[in-house]
Amino acid sequence: MDCITRLGVVGCGLMGSGIAEVAALAGLDVRVAEAASDAAEAGRRRVTASLDRGVKRAKLTEEDRDRALAGLSFTHDVGDLADRQFVVEAVAENRAIKIDVIRSLDKVVEDPVAILATNTSSIPIVDLAVATERPGQVIGMHFFNPVPVQRLVEVIPGLTTSADTERRTRAFAERLGKTTVRAADRAGFVVNALLIPYLLGAVRMVESGSARPEDIDQGMELGCAHPMGPLRLLDLIGLDTAQAIAESMYDEYKEPLYASPALLRRMVAAGHLGRKSGRGFYAYGN
Ligand code: CAA
Repeated sequence: MDCITRLGVVGCGLMGSGIAEVAALAGLDVRVAEAASDAAEAGRRRVTASLDRGVKRAKLTEEDRDRALAGLSFTHDVGDLADRQFVVEAVAENRAIKIDVIRSLDKVVEDPVAILATNTSSIPIVDLAVATERPGQVIGMHFFNPVPVQRLVEVIPGLTTSADTERRTRAFAERLGKTTVRAADRAGFVVNALLIPYLLGAVRMVESGSARPEDIDQGMELGCAHPMGPLRLLDLIGLDTAQAIAESMYDEYKEPLYASPALLRRMVAAGHLGRKSGRGFYAYGN
């Protein structure tokens, strides 16, 4: 029962393609469902480029890369995930969309013990679980960006999640080479509950004019040995994603600490979303 060989991934953005890549490298048969053809194509290119980079840096052999690519397939139809034993959804951080996806997965996935995991960073797991006929087999599995690099997965059992689902999910994450920590089903889990107020604090510093983005980032990189400062990190995460997480935390706790600063909201409205849109606190080339 624990020998999961067939994984489904829904959504092929930054997170979905990263999850597909690490799973294919771990030897799994991975099928990625993505409704939009341009997103599926971009996802395939991202995985291929990342594997090629691994070969160039001598971290992977050409055989590893070719085996991983051979284990990956793409579809536009969630129905093609019917034979999967474990599915991770990694679609946009939007409650209605995620509920819709998890409900469809519940209908199409045939294996009665298959697990449906959500890579949400802020939506209550129990809200997704109760939208299905298998609330004991729905769980949060929160990966970090870039997925091939960051070693952590937060495992979040909801109130309805069974102990067996939690155990199998942890074992599965470990098989992907990740270390797990357990978090309660509360907005922000462990990492974002600490990270988001820090990132919002950096935005407030820019907003108030007390320091420039470059100086704030250099301060944290050189002063605290962070691999990247908070504004570069916001650009990596995506300002829209960070805003969505902050809003859900504010909704849950009503703490001013989690309230999105006006500058963040205006930048999102302007489409300055960070690396993915070519402009955030910094400008990025193509
Ligand atoms: N795929 C595979 N490997 C990658 C990679 C990718 N997409 N990006 C970087 N790497 C590897 C590189 O191959 C390199 O490995 P070696 O040193 O062994 O050769 C290593 O990572 C460093 O990469 P680079 O030299 O290209 O760049 P860098 O040193 O500037 O590191 C970084 C880039 C890995 C992104 C690093 O700056 C970092 O770890 N930053 C912090 C990221 C972070 O905090 N992520 C969590 C965000 S929060 C989140 O995701 C949760 C949420 O809900 C918002």
